[in-house]
Amino acid sequence: MGRHIHSEDVVDSTQKVAQRHVFEGAPEGTVLIAEEQLSGRGRMDRKWHSPKYTGIWMSVILRPNLPPAKAPQLTLITAVAVVQAIEEMTGLTPEIKWPNDILLNGKKVTGILTEMQADADRIQAIIIGIGINVNQQEEDYPEELQPIATSLAIEYGKKLERAELIKVLLVKLEKLYSIYLDQGFYPIKLLWESYAISIGKNITARTITGSISGRALGITDDGVLMIEDSNGTIHHVYSADIELEK
Ligand code: BTN
Repeated sequence: MGRHIHSEDVVDSTQKVAQRHVFEGAPEGTVLIAEEQLSGRGRMDRKWHSPKYTGIWMSVILRPNLPPAKAPQLTLITAVAVVQAIEEMTGLTPEIKWPNDILLNGKKVTGILTEMQADADRIQAIIIGIGINVNQQEEDYPEELQPIATSLAIEYGKKLERAELIKVLLVKLEKLYSIYLDQGFYPIKLLWESYAISIGKNITARTITGSISGRALGITDDGVLMIEDSNGTIHHVYSADIELEK
């Protein structure tokens, strides 16, 4: 992981740069990093605020020989790797909000966006976009983000060396990915659940087709969230925004 690192100053989005590399046949483990993104992208077509020199804006290309339905598992592996890297660098333990928001003190410190190119039965490439807010101060955020976003520097009280964090993250990701390829998803699922905040809690999941409220039971072996509503019906949620009930 990270044997091929392409680092640029300003890009539109590292996801787009990665797509070009995938098209040109980039090997598994290729990493694209930028100092600044002019059109950083988030989940559900949102923008991702990616100012210069403050965060880690990177995309990792993986080419697992797996069916497309396994793609969400790779997002969950990445979330665990980010949590472990932050833990190692700061001693703080972030929490994961399904599917892949990483929070410190209830505010978002990292987002993960997974995009895939696949045939009907095989993944060609997965591009995992990771945005880590590292050295921003509160006033660096636009007003609308201040109540919901944070950075490692804000929570840890000191600035961090971004290159060091990238190195630690790639080591963790490589290790978890190889556990996954050798032993399957189960060991990763246990780790993921140990960091997850939503499991066992009452939540509302807002999907594109409507809302589902109930108790989050856990994730399936494919990384799908299970919610039990008040009638005892279990819903499988593939993509949603989650709100924890107070
Ligand atoms: C989210 O909505 O939580 C996901 C945010 C993902 C942001 C990262 S930053 C690097 C990569 N390039 C992008 O344009 N987006 C991802």
